[in-house]
Order: sequence, then C-alpha cells, then structure tokens
Amino acid sequence: MTYEHHDYDVLIIGAGGAGLRAAIEAKQSGLSVAILTKSLLGKAHTVMAEGGMAAAMGNVYPEDNWMVHFRDTMRGGKYLNNYRMAELHAKESPARVRELEQWGALFDRTKDGKILQRDFGGHRYARLAHVGDRTGLELIRTLQQKVVSMGTDVFMEVKVLRLVHDADGRVAGCVAYRRPTGEFITFGAKAVILATGGAGKSWQFTSNSWEGTGDGHAMALWAGANLIDMECIQFHPTGMVWPLSVRGLLVTEGVRGDGGVLRNSEGRRFMFDYVAPMFRAETAESEEEADKWYDDHTAGRRPPELLPRDEVARAINAEVKAGRGSPHGGVYLDIATRRSAEFIRRRLPSMYHQFMELAGVDITREAMEIGPTCHYIMGGVQVDADTAATAARGLFAAGEVAGGMHGANRLGGNSLSDLVVFGKRAGEGAVRYIAAGDVAGQMNDHQVEAAVAEALAPFEREEGENPYDIQRDLQEMMQANVGIIRTQSELEYARGQLETFTERIRNIKVKGGRAYNPGWNLATDLPAMITVCKAVTIGATLRKESRGGHTREDFPSADPEFAKFNFAHSTNGGNWDSEIVTKESTLLTMPDELKALLEEAK
Ligand code: FUM
Repeated sequence: MTYEHHDYDVLIIGAGGAGLRAAIEAKQSGLSVAILTKSLLGKAHTVMAEGGMAAAMGNVYPEDNWMVHFRDTMRGGKYLNNYRMAELHAKESPARVRELEQWGALFDRTKDGKILQRDFGGHRYARLAHVGDRTGLELIRTLQQKVVSMGTDVFMEVKVLRLVHDADGRVAGCVAYRRPTGEFITFGAKAVILATGGAGKSWQFTSNSWEGTGDGHAMALWAGANLIDMECIQFHPTGMVWPLSVRGLLVTEGVRGDGGVLRNSEGRRFMFDYVAPMFRAETAESEEEADKWYDDHTAGRRPPELLPRDEVARAINAEVKAGRGSPHGGVYLDIATRRSAEFIRRRLPSMYHQFMELAGVDITREAMEIGPTCHYIMGGVQVDADTAATAARGLFAAGEVAGGMHGANRLGGNSLSDLVVFGKRAGEGAVRYIAAGDVAGQMNDHQVEAAVAEALAPFEREEGENPYDIQRDLQEMMQANVGIIRTQSELEYARGQLETFTERIRNIKVKGGRAYNPGWNLATDLPAMITVCKAVTIGATLRKESRGGHTREDFPSADPEFAKFNFAHSTNGGNWDSEIVTKESTLLTMPDELKALLEEAK
C-alpha cells in the first residue's frame, strides 16, 4: 500500500518542553525537522509542572550553586540516578533558564529585578524560577513561539503507532495515522527523537491527561532500546480529591513552597510527626512553637511539608489509613490561615481559579482537600547522558520518557529544567549522529504493513470488547495493586492480571469509522499501556526494598545492594505482547570529586 509520506533529517515525536527544545537545536544546525504530536501544539504534560523550574542561579540565596543542586537531586533520587545526567542538569539549568528569558519568557522578579526563585521540596535553597503557578505553560508558550518562528513543520493530531527500522536495524522513521481522518501516514528520518512524556494514564487517579499513555516508552522498547527502573513512579502528594470528576488534578507544590501546610482531620500539622519521631506536636504550645522546634532541630531546612514528594505522599497515605483523613479520602492543604488573600491570588492565580470553578472552594478562606496523584515516571528509556542516544541506533530520548536523571524519586521543579537541558542535548546528539554519516536507509515496508494491519484489526472482528472497559479495569487494577504502597502478593496478582489484560486487548472491537474515533485511538494506545504496566510491575516485584517512589510494605527499608544497579528491560521479539526480559544494569561509577560532594552532605 502507499500512504502519505514525508522525509526529514530529524523527526521528533512529542511536542512538550523536551520535544520543542530538541527541535530548536536541530533546526538551528540547518537540518530539516518535523515535530509530531498526537494532541495539539501547546497541550502537553509540561504545563502540569506549574510551580517552577529548578536551577541553581543563586538569585535568592547567593550560596546556592550547581554542586548543592547536584547533591539535592542525587539525595532526592535515593542515589539511583545516572550521576552524569544529574551533574549535567545541575550545571546547565541556569543557562537554559536565561535562554528562555531571552526568548521571551516572563519570569516573576525579585525586588532588584532578578529572576525570582521559590522554595520546593527537597531543594536546600529556594531555587525554582517561576511564573506564578503557570511556569510550564510559559515554558511551552515560549518554546512553541520560537519553534514556529523558525519554520519547523508541526504535524498535530498524528498518532504514532510504531517506529520502523531499515534493513540494517537502524531506526528509520515511523508509521502513524491522522486522528481527524484516520488515514495512515509514514515518516522517514535519519534520526528520531522520542519526547513523548509519561505514562500516568494507566492509574486511576492521575494528573496526566489522556495523552499520557506511555507510547514512547513502549515504542522504544519494541524498537530495541532498554527501559530502566520503571517501578519508580511518582505520586505527587497534592492532587484534588473532590469533586470526583477532577480527582487527581494537580495542586501545585508551589502552594507549600509559598507557605501552605498540611493538616489532618484533627487540624494537626501531621508532617512534624514523620520527620521527628521524638517530637510530639501536642507538647508544643502553639504552631509557632512547633515551627521553631523544627527549625532548631533541622538546621533551618525547609518546613516538613517540603520534604521530597515520596515522603510527603506516604505520610498523607498513612494519615488517611489511620482514619485521620478528610471526608473524601484526602487531607487538608491550608494556605488561607498562613497568607493574605492578596498574596494567594497574586502568587497562585491558577489554584485560586481551579478550586473556585471546580470545587466551589475559596482557597483564600478555606483549606483544600488533597491526596496523592500519579504524576510522573522516573523510570524510562536508558540513554547516554551526554547525547541522549538509546541502545537502538538512530533513536534518541529526552524528557520524562528518558530514565536515569531522577533516580528513584524526582524533586519538584527538576522536570522543567530536565526537559530543556536534555531536549537541547538530544537535538545536538541527533545532529552529530547524522553528521557522522552512518544513518538509516529505506524503511522496512513489512514493519509498516504489520503496524497498519494491527491497528485496523479491531474494526474487523465480528465480536470483541470495548476498549474503554479494558482501560477502566486496567487503571483500577494498577491503582489497587501497583500503587503508592506495594506488597509481593499484590504485585504477583497484578502480573497475573496483566496476562488477562493482554488477552482482552487482543480481542478489542471498535465500532464506527476511522475519522475522529476516540475508541479506536484508545485501542491503539492500549498495547503501549500494557507494555508499560508490565515493565513497572516486573520491576516492582524484583525490587525487594523501598526506595523513593517505590514503597514495599513487606520491605520497608532501602537495601544498599539495590543501589548498585538499574533494572533494565528489553523485549524478546519486539512486539507489544512479546516477553519482557529483565536484567541488572550496573550504575556508572561516579568520579571521586562528585562522590566527595555527596559525602559532605552526610
Ligand atoms: O507541583 C508542581 O508544580 C509540579 C511541578 C513538577 O512536577 O515539577
């Protein structure tokens, strides 16, 4: 069959911060570049990083520098990080913030006109450059304007089904379809950059929108790349819990960064109990006394609400489990009693509107009901830190789809800086790969035809199951068994269930035509979703310890043996239902001068 076809030097799949930044870099070197997005330009999970972009600029605390940022990131990631990525990220983030400013991003300002930086969990100093509580949106807006002004081709509402190789096994392009028409379309490329974001849509309560189905993770695995540490999933402590229709929607950490505190149903600031077992809030006369005690005992570190996200999410979970939750199964986030209405409206305009419009709650007067929400996957495609190259020749990955940078837990604000630091590096990596000359030839037609046939199969079945039923059941199963707290028996149950889901996906029936058919779109997402769920669950079963975003009730402590390697997954067959093979991949050896930085912190 012949399909609409386009050839480019560099093909970028995904139009969030990493994809856009990669496109700018590749385009600047004079190559032809196209960006594909299954959604619309400007609509990416990047906008859900609301509170800011971490970069050690030292504008608020002059003593801040890349070394402290590196240390915080490694500590937050519980030392499972690719140290080289954490190093590059800490060193290069300030330049990426300044570059955004030059391209038109309007950051909030200090009184003397510098870029203002806000507090966030796990960061030693106030370090997040921000635009109120709309930083991700400003980042996307700025990059998008730059990409468009450079004349980059953007294909919107194009859903990529599979990466395609050439005869020598190099990645040579992809096969996709246009969502508005259902027509297939192929793209040939010398280098492909994956910037497809995350996979949170496989859980019931998530900050991810419909796009977050792990397409890039799965396509990379099928194409011959490795996935690492997929079990490390971040449950952001503060998602909306009510009304049910918006459960999971993000409430920015900026609320806590700007002074918001967490309370249980007894009105108690319970986070103190989780940082200092010897501290008893009831012995303190007042909240001021509790605050003072905390400062005295933690050398002026951030308030306990600003511990890393994994720790705060677990504490909330424990309060709810102990029967001290709010009416809808969360706890309270209170900024109203801590800051003026004018301050809240100025610093957190989106949160003010979000709660007013969606829940009828005025956050300048009342506390918000919040609970953990699946927000981010730390695991992802294994890449070379400097070039973003994967194990599949011709394939690069940057942003949330790439693993390693954040180890077992990401610090808030480190994702926006990750996107631009490694988006730029992926663009450079692709340019250098092309310049070296050993690039892909003709796409393998058999692979194209196989992907098309698989995509059309749900229309051809006489009988079968509705994809929405499968998606709902999968989300509930993952939430219940591979959620915030895990046990061996539940994980083994989940692995069995995932085999049943595989059978159900093989038997999907889609009704109607191909044009704008969301049921069909979901049917083509489900193979990626199940692939990701399997890798997550296998990793969670094997990691018999608790580390960062992966918490095992039956192995509550971290085991240093598990900090020596990543769990790396590959496939035996390269299809969505092929067996996943998991091995230990030894962590890179950190140079002594970086080790010394970590020692200083202990
Ligand atoms: O809470 C937030 O604003 C999210 C930021 C992030 O995930 O980096």
